[in-house]
Amino acid sequence: MTRNLFIALEGIDGSGKSTQIGLLKSNLENAGHKVYTTFEPTDGPIGKLIRDIFNHRIEADQRTIAGLFVADRLEHILNKKNGMLKKLEEGFTVITDRYYFSSYAYHGVHMPVDWVIQSNALAAGILRPDLNIFIDIDPETGMDRIRKGRNSLELFETLENQKKVRDKYFEVLEMLKNEENVFITNGNRFPEEIADEIWQKVKTIV
Ligand code: ADP
Ligand code: TYD
Repeated sequence: MTRNLFIALEGIDGSGKSTQIGLLKSNLENAGHKVYTTFEPTDGPIGKLIRDIFNHRIEADQRTIAGLFVADRLEHILNKKNGMLKKLEEGFTVITDRYYFSSYAYHGVHMPVDWVIQSNALAAGILRPDLNIFIDIDPETGMDRIRKGRNSLELFETLENQKKVRDKYFEVLEMLKNEENVFITNGNRFPEEIADEIWQKVKTIV
């Protein structure tokens, strides 16, 4: 491997991505790695704009939202101070909570998935994950988990959409399986069990 490991966590809302990132980070650190964790949308200016749309403060159509994610993602990769390339250069293993597969799945529900893939080609060309981990849970469970932790729901957080997004994830994971290293894990289990399986997989590429 010529650079440090770059891993993306994927899954519908409430699938346990941030929980698993915390557990994977501990496992990597215990094995002596420096770990940087990050997420999308970012905390940068475009990420904030996206969050305003998700929280119903600003209105935008789906194609506009998809375009904003492309811009936010390039910032996420290339920011001079805390961009993912910079962190990899500094010797960190980088784990991101969502990357372009999220765009394919969430926006592929609303527009041709080829369009979304093409609009992300630059990001994929600059920085491709060594491993995409997809945590699969049933959408009902995801919605239950989200509802427990939130006062209000974001734009895409309906049961109907979660179901469509899950299906779209499977469609694009299958479509891109020759170009991307994808690992699917069953998220309907205890967090530690899932974390163990993820750790066994990560150990094969670390
Ligand atoms: P995401 O980042 O994918 O939205 P989180 O890790 O924030 O998911 O988890 C959403 C909620 O579900 C949190 O309250 C978390 O504690 C809970 N949770 C996460 N993983 C599990 C699991 N395996 N079983 C039960 N609850 C879980
Ligand atoms: P976030 O608050 O990170 O979701 P989570 O509940 O998983 O922590 O919000 C991310 C939202 O953005 C989520 O609904 C998925 C959506 N999204 C897209 O629509 N396109 C994308 O490219 C990405 C990365 C996320």
